[in-house]
Amino acid sequence: TPAKGLIVVSNRLPVVLSRNEDGWGITTGAGGLVSAMAPVLRDRGGTWVGWTGASGEHEAESLLGEFSREAGYSLKPVRLEKEDVADFYYGFANEVIWPLFHDFQSLCNFFPKYWKSYLRVNELYARAVMDSGDPEAYVWVHDYHLMHVGEMLKSMGSRRRAGFFLHIPFPPMDNYLKLPWRRRLLSALLEYDLVGFQTYRDRRNFMQSVQVLLPHVKPQGRGPVIELLLDGRKVRLGAFPISIDYRSFVRTARSPAVSGRVNELKSAMDGRRMLLAVDRLDYSKGITFRLEAFREALEKYPGLRGNVTLMQIMVPSRQEVPRYNALKQEIERLVGEINGLFSRPGWNPVQYQYRSLGREELVAYYRAASMAIVTPLRDGMNLVAKEYCACNVNRRGVLLLSEFAGAAAQLQNGAVLVNPFDREGMAQSIKEALDMPAEEARRRMDRMRDVIRKNDIFRWVDMFLLAAFSRHLDDFPPT
Ligand code: UDP
Ligand code: G6P
Repeated sequence: TPAKGLIVVSNRLPVVLSRNEDGWGITTGAGGLVSAMAPVLRDRGGTWVGWTGASGEHEAESLLGEFSREAGYSLKPVRLEKEDVADFYYGFANEVIWPLFHDFQSLCNFFPKYWKSYLRVNELYARAVMDSGDPEAYVWVHDYHLMHVGEMLKSMGSRRRAGFFLHIPFPPMDNYLKLPWRRRLLSALLEYDLVGFQTYRDRRNFMQSVQVLLPHVKPQGRGPVIELLLDGRKVRLGAFPISIDYRSFVRTARSPAVSGRVNELKSAMDGRRMLLAVDRLDYSKGITFRLEAFREALEKYPGLRGNVTLMQIMVPSRQEVPRYNALKQEIERLVGEINGLFSRPGWNPVQYQYRSLGREELVAYYRAASMAIVTPLRDGMNLVAKEYCACNVNRRGVLLLSEFAGAAAQLQNGAVLVNPFDREGMAQSIKEALDMPAEEARRRMDRMRDVIRKNDIFRWVDMFLLAAFSRHLDDFPPT
């Protein structure tokens, strides 16, 4: 590609530093952004600018150096003070933008001090980019924490090209218009040369807000990448569904270590079928709705009792935001209630793990499960759905997928689509998916695996960078 070097900027680095009794420890970060971008940087090299998840981490910088040498790209940590973590990360990013953009506007706290902190921290990130060598590098900013970085780079006199990708949904206009800083934020996004969204729907939502707030801006073209004309400048807007390193997941799924672990998990299930759910603990993931639907299924179809187990894996996330903590209690109460109703000696209907699993362990669960239940109320893409399919090397599994996950647009020809708000419908879909003939399951799984294999993370990067650098868009996407 035409990009000479790459500077990736995201709130988080791919690693998290934390202090324990024996000093500093380093772990890989959770969430789709890190899962998707880590293989890209390994493949291309470059610099990743972001936060380590800690403060006072200068003592632990040698750990970052070690990681860098092994991974083949550099890490440039941005230091956040405690107050910024509170007001920018927990505050503006996760109590304003995250709920608003996932259609939970009633959870938003539109505090002016959050907004001030957002601008201050975006400036810090822009400063860190200015200090990162390579004047020819392409600056690629990621996600909702850093929407103002491009604008700030310009005001600091940067002449580098800069693009932005939004990993979460862009909300419908009626929701977006509630944001007190709506015009500033929209204008800031339009300072990038290219803004990427997960789906056409997100881009359409964005365009509708642009048309209301900035009516002089004129769109041109159609297809995956369009152009806006404003003040004699062109801004490109594209839809690029993010993906996974498909081949790497397949390789791991086929490895002897994972195969051994799959056998262990299966024998622990004692002939029962595993329904798997894997989420960060987040209200956007629809975890309580899924549990309610599973209870409904057990009530309605007694034949399921003793024969299926819902394995719910929940990764701790954003625990300082009150809503997340309350949700954890709600989920644990519900798990207890369902187990209380149906458990019998040797069988609990719901098994629940509250921790992050390593890659191989997670892949073993993907393989051992008869079905994945991926039912977010709203999700930018959802990589768990794609990873489940990639790892389903025996092609016997079924994917139950929410219509409101970005992934539904690509996987609708193979997944069983459900409306996560429809408890009875979901219960029925669980039953039908369990009864699905093996041949149909295989046909559906093959179709989804095909789509994901052809549209893996490396193709995604190529598409984004091509959209950023190609002179004309007439022949986009290239074949
Ligand atoms: N994940 C993980 N450990 C776990 C569970 C999940 O590393 O124990 C990863 C998973 O492989 C996936 C990511 O977390 O790549 C979740 O991404 P997704 O897009 O599904 O949701 P997000 O958390 O970004 O909202
Ligand atoms: C989602 C967001 C990412 C974020 C991840 C984990 O995937 O799109 O930007 O990194 O969740 O959340 P956290 O708040 O722990 O970074």
